[in-house]
Amino acid sequence: MQIGTTLNQFLLEEQRHLGGVHHDLPALVNDVVVACKSLSHALSQGALAGMLGSADSENVQGETQKKLDVISNDIMIATAERGGYLAAMASEEMDEIYPIPVQYPKGKYLLLFDPLDGSSNIDVNISVGTIFSILRCPAGVMIPTAEDFMQPGTQQVCAGYALYGPSTLLVLTTGHGVNCFTLDKSLGEFVLTQTNLRVPEDTREFAINASNSRFWEKPVKRYIDECLAGKDGPRKENFNMRWVASMVAEVHRILNRGGIFMYPRDSKDPTKAGRLRLMYEANPMSFIIEQAGGVCSTGREPIMSIQPIELHQRVAVILGSKNEVERVVAYHAEG
Ligand code: AHG
Ligand code: MN
Ligand code: MN
Repeated sequence: MQIGTTLNQFLLEEQRHLGGVHHDLPALVNDVVVACKSLSHALSQGALAGMLGSADSENVQGETQKKLDVISNDIMIATAERGGYLAAMASEEMDEIYPIPVQYPKGKYLLLFDPLDGSSNIDVNISVGTIFSILRCPAGVMIPTAEDFMQPGTQQVCAGYALYGPSTLLVLTTGHGVNCFTLDKSLGEFVLTQTNLRVPEDTREFAINASNSRFWEKPVKRYIDECLAGKDGPRKENFNMRWVASMVAEVHRILNRGGIFMYPRDSKDPTKAGRLRLMYEANPMSFIIEQAGGVCSTGREPIMSIQPIELHQRVAVILGSKNEVERVVAYHAEG
């Protein structure tokens, strides 16, 4: 596909690859993308439109919501609920699933999303994003329940993210590689700017929140200690470190220049398997990274092989350049 193709033209072409069963997919992705464009505009207004600060509420995970967490969730719902392509939605910011209201036609897909990823960065004007994952609604289900969302990441039909940085970008996969589009604000359209992104197999750059190091498990501690030892250590090379605290920004960096991102399981809160959420953070990012030749694991198993048991379940995430992720997985196997 040619650089400069609009997202709509691209999606119609993709649909031909996927075959007739997915004739609604371009229109559904387009609805999600319209919400991302709208959010891009709201974010750029920032304090001018009174968008910043806390919403004085908590989500189901006990996290304080920012005004923009709530606004972005509302934008996605309002934009995606009426198209007739969805049976239900679920989001980081809603305790329960959101079945499509009776006044709208129902479709055959389920949409999961993190409306605003990295929202702790919003008040300081650092990149944030939106992550989404599309699943099929099981055949014959008229009124979906949370149970119908409990599908491993391998079942995703499409996954993507919008990155609101110096430019607004959209990165998308339907299982045929990964492509990146840039929002041309003069046209109001996303335009193809990078095709077939590939994660370099090797890297000398890692991303982890090192303030948790005293809670890490042995294999993670070993890996990071070896990186930090640099040329004088067993790796015999110096490593660089980055931590944006917006997973979307970290994944985008890794897609472009390689790297390893880790939010591993730790002993900080033994009731949680990790920090990130499986269904609307880890799975869509894993689909994208693996479609670009990277690897995604909990350290113990591939992320997308996990059978979900709970909508908001958390998971350990180790993803990025193949050879480094495989090294961390090997360290876990060694114990
Ligand atoms: P969210 O803003 O959707 O809650 O997600 C934030 C996530 C992720 O984007 C990032 O990698 C991580 O949380 C940052 O966590 P720390 O604040 O612990 O560094
Ligand atoms: Mn998030
Ligand atoms: Mn979020």
